[in-house]
Amino acid sequence: MINTDSSNSTSQKNIITPGPLPSSIQINADGKLKHFLTIEGIPPLLLEEILDRSQQFVSLPNKAQVQAPLLRGKTVMNLFFENSTRTRTTFELAAKRLSADLVNMDIRTSSATKGESLLDTIRNLEAMGCDMFVVRHSSSGAAHFIARYCAPHISVLNAGDGRHAHPTQAMLDMLTIRQHKGDFTPLQVAIVGDIKHSRVARSQIHALSTLCTGEIRIIAPKTLIPQGIENMGVSVYHEIEKGIKDVDVVIMLRLQHERMTTALLPSVREYYARYGLTEERLKLAKPDAIVMHPGPVNRGVEIDSRVADGSQSVIMQQVTNGIAVRMAIMSMVMG
Ligand code: NCD
Repeated sequence: MINTDSSNSTSQKNIITPGPLPSSIQINADGKLKHFLTIEGIPPLLLEEILDRSQQFVSLPNKAQVQAPLLRGKTVMNLFFENSTRTRTTFELAAKRLSADLVNMDIRTSSATKGESLLDTIRNLEAMGCDMFVVRHSSSGAAHFIARYCAPHISVLNAGDGRHAHPTQAMLDMLTIRQHKGDFTPLQVAIVGDIKHSRVARSQIHALSTLCTGEIRIIAPKTLIPQGIENMGVSVYHEIEKGIKDVDVVIMLRLQHERMTTALLPSVREYYARYGLTEERLKLAKPDAIVMHPGPVNRGVEIDSRVADGSQSVIMQQVTNGIAVRMAIMSMVMG
């Protein structure tokens, strides 16, 4: 699972390939969530429980002051081996709102830069009394690897691994869709952009299909679509005008230049001309369609500013929902 084709990372070279990864690793024998590594294999009822709990946290009055004591006495360590704004900060706020002790490891100034292996870093943090690791890493499989080898009382949450999975992002996206549209079954959802390098798209597709979404459309040039994507139950479009016709939800993705090893596009300008979400193109979707983006948004590359900031955009609501979803998942794995 772990590969080395993504961007450089200080400790990537120290990871040991973990071998086959059983999806049961994240669910206990009694059906409870132990780790949160991928949406794949999580039953619909458990996904719905996450959404219900998240919605309860969204509805908490005066969120900044109400500290739910569910993680009091627990220590959460944020291990971000890759840059992040929204994900790291919302995990931090979620842990604090649940009354946990939170440590933000600065990997750039840690001993990972002195050749310490990931496993040795983990062992040392365990010795400090950690209960939960939140892991972002440029190598696919990094969070699974830590979950497999860490002490049994510890839970691991995947905050994005290589191009593999970003399950908490997918869940905050599902929450946002549910808040606007309710039931998933009649919905047509389009995901537009760099599907090939996107861990977000992969997790969204798993979540949308587990929740029985009516139709999932993938829209991208051939070079940005991974082989065999049809096996995930999606329909593939190469023209945005056809792909977003009458959809209920449009999810835009960034071009992940840092993961592209060869030139996959003639130019950014041409990409915008063919795939950029403009006001004119958005009119092809349903009139009440919502526009989503996991961020970071590249204005004028995948989306026009007027759409990103327009009345159909729910991009900031996604960010806000990130706190509630992470609170829900953290409380469930520690439950
Ligand atoms: C995404 C990520 O890091 O995978 N962003 C995020 O977590 N909000 C998407 C991206 O980087 O394009």
